[in-house]
Amino acid sequence: MSKKAILEIDGNKYEFPIIEGTEKELGIDIKTLRGATGGITTIDPGYKNTGSCESAITFLDGEKGILRYRGYSIEELAEKADFLEVAYLLIFGELPTAEQLDKFDKDIKEESHIDEDMKRILDGFPKSAHPMGVLSSLTSALIAFNPGSVDVDSEEAMYGAIVKIMAKFPVLASWTMRKRKSLPLDYGDSSLGYVENLSKMMFSRPNKTYEANKIVNDALDKLLILHADHEQNCSTSTVRIVGSSHAGLFASLSAGISALWGPLHGGANQAVIEMLEAIREDGGDTAKYIAKAKDKEDPFRLMGFGHRVYKNFDPRAKIIKVSAEEVLGDLGIEDPVLDIAKGLAQVALEDEYFVKRKLYPNVDFYSGIIYRALGIPTEMFTVMFALGRLPGWIAQWREMRLRKEPIGRPRQIYTGANYREFKEVAKR
Ligand code: CMC
Repeated sequence: MSKKAILEIDGNKYEFPIIEGTEKELGIDIKTLRGATGGITTIDPGYKNTGSCESAITFLDGEKGILRYRGYSIEELAEKADFLEVAYLLIFGELPTAEQLDKFDKDIKEESHIDEDMKRILDGFPKSAHPMGVLSSLTSALIAFNPGSVDVDSEEAMYGAIVKIMAKFPVLASWTMRKRKSLPLDYGDSSLGYVENLSKMMFSRPNKTYEANKIVNDALDKLLILHADHEQNCSTSTVRIVGSSHAGLFASLSAGISALWGPLHGGANQAVIEMLEAIREDGGDTAKYIAKAKDKEDPFRLMGFGHRVYKNFDPRAKIIKVSAEEVLGDLGIEDPVLDIAKGLAQVALEDEYFVKRKLYPNVDFYSGIIYRALGIPTEMFTVMFALGRLPGWIAQWREMRLRKEPIGRPRQIYTGANYREFKEVAKR
């Protein structure tokens, strides 16, 4: 028998169905709440208890530390798949056959050119501009060069828009880094794989033949996979809600990039390294910073700690911790910041404040250490996150449009002034 929820308000009872997901998650379906109760709504700031959609893309269990894309575990994908395969899986629902993967790869390469006029837009930014702001603007500017909205009822048109952005996004992302470093722009090389090409576009020098570094490319591939989707997080919800107004894919993505930028979301990876550096410069006293994080009078938070949904451990952080040690070892780099990170994690994991609140290192706690070892500047870390998250955002946007979801438009409870009569300015 299907489950039901009963809500009683002032003696009146209302019945709501409970829907069950494929992993037995339960959700009270309140679609009819306002109609049935004469306009009563729910209040849930930060949507801590609200499911905004049904989705078949990513499953995560925050209590058990499980993360799966389309049913495949993050551990297995990080070890065995490459980023392009994972992107295809997320967007289209199944792992690609060799033929499908080859076509996806070729179609992306075919679209990887950027209109020369885009360079003038990039030129207009000061060198000091944060790469996330530049990336969001350039993604939005792409619309001007690719006008016309995608016909979401045409699989072909949808596919065309997807390969376009998968192709152009890494070029734009690497250009934001090259601009800051005063390096000539690089258009990539279509004989290279997706991640190798990204690496080339970021690291090539005008006076040197580019030589691929397998350790760097493997590490990048893994990091991109680990960031590729995370169900209804802040930036993904932004992409879905912007897209729900039938704004186009690129416009929705540009909004998602802005949402990701914040230090409570993707911007945490930059904030973590800046925090670890500050601790190092301050003599490496981790206990002092743990105390600051616990002090309610102090706005300082331990960046890279805590998560809205993981209340046990973040499975991505587990993989990245091991990967950070391996990459640093393979590249022969000793980074004192890694020791500070490990020390900080150790103290926090045993401290009652963090234990009680179930605060554990998240994906961003160790990722910056790897990016740094790979020679990526700190302010580019969140751009790396965006590169990884791109297929997730696309998949979520596509799912939302294919399911013909209604426009996202939450309600509120008004707490402002009641009706007041207007007073002329001279009488105020
Ligand atoms: N340092 C110190 N205290 C913390 C921290 C932290 N990093 N995170 C949460 N708390 C405390 C918070 O003060 C609150 O304490 P109390 O119950 O006494 O008021 C309690 O833990 C619950 O925190 P919350 O802010 O209500 O939790 P939330 O689910 O709204 O926030 C979070 C989740 C990730 C925004 C938050 O943990 C945080 O700010 N972490 C640091 C930033 C960070 O690392 N963000 C990256 C998240 S992972 C990448 C991604 O997917 O975005």
